[in-house]
Amino acid sequence: MALFVVLLGPPGAGKGTQAKLLAQSFDLPHVSSGDLFRDHLKRETRLGLLAKDYMDRGGLVPDNVTVDMVIDRLSQPVCQKGAILDGFPRTLSQALALDEAMEERGEQVDLAPLIQVSDDEVVKRLTARRSCRSCGAVYHLLFNPPRVEGVCDVCGGPLYQRDDDNPETVRNRLYTYYKETSPLIGYYCAKGVLREVDGERSIDDIQVDLHAVIEAL
Ligand code: AP5
Ligand code: MG
Ligand code: ZN
Repeated sequence: MALFVVLLGPPGAGKGTQAKLLAQSFDLPHVSSGDLFRDHLKRETRLGLLAKDYMDRGGLVPDNVTVDMVIDRLSQPVCQKGAILDGFPRTLSQALALDEAMEERGEQVDLAPLIQVSDDEVVKRLTARRSCRSCGAVYHLLFNPPRVEGVCDVCGGPLYQRDDDNPETVRNRLYTYYKETSPLIGYYCAKGVLREVDGERSIDDIQVDLHAVIEAL
């Protein structure tokens, strides 16, 4: 049986951090729409340059291009056993498109854990986040610092601060989350797959809870 998990939560909730750990333990690919866009941008593709405009402002990249990009990834053989989705879907229309694609292959979204974090915590987390330029590993200057300043523990690559982690864009991302993405909470609740997880605890404690909800399936 395949396992498709959709991680929900505001910007900075820890979706990426938790998704990477889950992907390792369950041996599933981590599919992050934000990482896919940043990869396009690094390669300077047309899609990457288009996405940058929206990302820098804290808005959403249009549904049609986002859906095509993610569904294309999910249809690759690596995702046959499932995936840990992070940052997608982010609108009701994306959620419907995902359900349709899943249905076509006889699958469904099995679980949608919601990592809950207050707005104040979001700001604290995002303004001191650092990410690895080479492998995408995520750090926090206070809460989860790298062993050597500016250097990735995993691959030795250089750490950088994301362009959209400035206070103004973070405020816009939160606004976009409440307006466009929070309706998905009701959507997945109605489907019986929503699980609420308290995100204001240690990374390890949250991971333990996520394992528990997956194993309870
Ligand atoms: P995306 O990259 O998905 O950004 P996001 O949703 O804003 O979420 P983040 O990646 O900022 O946070 P996270 O929840 O992954 O937290 P993390 O683990 O890094 O999207 C970026 C942009 O791309 C969007 O704004 C949009 O423009 C576009 N986009 C992407 N997907 C799209 C879609 N589907 N449709 C349309 N547009 C789309 O953790 C954050 C920090 O906190 C880190 O420093 C970490 O070390 C720290 N931390 C993590 N857990 C803890 C903890 N338990 N305690 C203390 N610190 C912690
Ligand atoms: Mg992320
Ligand atoms: Zn790295």
